[in-house]
Amino acid sequence: MNKIFLFFIVVLLSPPRVHSQTVPRSLSIFILAGQSNMAGRGGVYNDTSKNIIVWDGVIPPESRSNPSILRLTAKLEWEEAKEPLHADIDVNKTNGVGPGMSFANRVVNRFGKVGLVPCSVGGTKLSQWQKGEFLYEETVKRAKAAAVASGGGSYQAVLWYQGESDTVDFVDASDYKKRLVKFFNDLRSDLQHPNLPIIQVALATGAGPYLGEVRKAQLETDLENVHCVDAMGLPLEPDGLHLTTASQVRLGQMMVDAFFAIPSSAEIFSGFSVLVLFPLFFL
Ligand SMILES: *[C@@H]1O[C@H](CO)[C@@H](O)[C@H](O)[C@H]1NC(C)=O
Ligand SMILES: *[C@@H]1O[C@H](CO)[C@@H](O)[C@H](O)[C@H]1NC(C)=O
Repeated sequence: MNKIFLFFIVVLLSPPRVHSQTVPRSLSIFILAGQSNMAGRGGVYNDTSKNIIVWDGVIPPESRSNPSILRLTAKLEWEEAKEPLHADIDVNKTNGVGPGMSFANRVVNRFGKVGLVPCSVGGTKLSQWQKGEFLYEETVKRAKAAAVASGGGSYQAVLWYQGESDTVDFVDASDYKKRLVKFFNDLRSDLQHPNLPIIQVALATGAGPYLGEVRKAQLETDLENVHCVDAMGLPLEPDGLHLTTASQVRLGQMMVDAFFAIPSSAEIFSGFSVLVLFPLFFL
């Protein structure tokens, strides 16, 4: 009896070691969804002499490409990721720098290989992201393809930054929380990953008068493993709607901090299984 008790103590005190062997050496997948600020408008400006919207092409060191960071193209193939990450996804807009590469460059050392799945489209409302709608189904399709496309991998988190378009209409703003919870629940369920971490961004800007209502819904989303970082106060492009390149770099880093603050479910699981198996062995 004492012996068994002693083993319990030893097991409780020793850190789980199974972790590094059970995590597959394939891609760690992050899904990027939302509207323009997630797609990236950093460095995008109105060239008034030609009356066209252009990207300045400036990629800061924090957002540089890395052979270990891939992106899933519109054709569902992996390629080395580069800014603008959403160029072939948010096809009707001029894309610039978003938070994705800054995020990936900070997590790549821990994960070995990172696979980004860009799904964001500018100017979209949350009602367009509900299950059954095109953007939702497209996101699920792309996420599932990412898990099986050559190399494959496992889902690590969803990065979500959306809501500017829901600040215009009172009903969109007041239904925001309800729709958001449904969207997160449906997505986790369709990806068969009920506790998939979601890092969402509380809006810095809105296109209409109901910014406060939408931000409140985001900051008070009370779902397990949904974490919110607040973009309010980050410097904006002259349009007053979009984060600058430097702000996007900062936002990506804030999202990493929120992500790394989540206790690893893999570690909890392996520690737990060792605890359960040990007494069976010695009885
Ligand atoms: C760009 O700026 C010009 C001049 O201010 C304006 O007329 C035009 O509507 C702008 N274009 C866009 C797409 O914002
Ligand atoms: C781009 O514009 C076309 C034509 O209006 C539209 O059918 C399509 O859905 C748009 N795609 C995106 C990603 O916005």
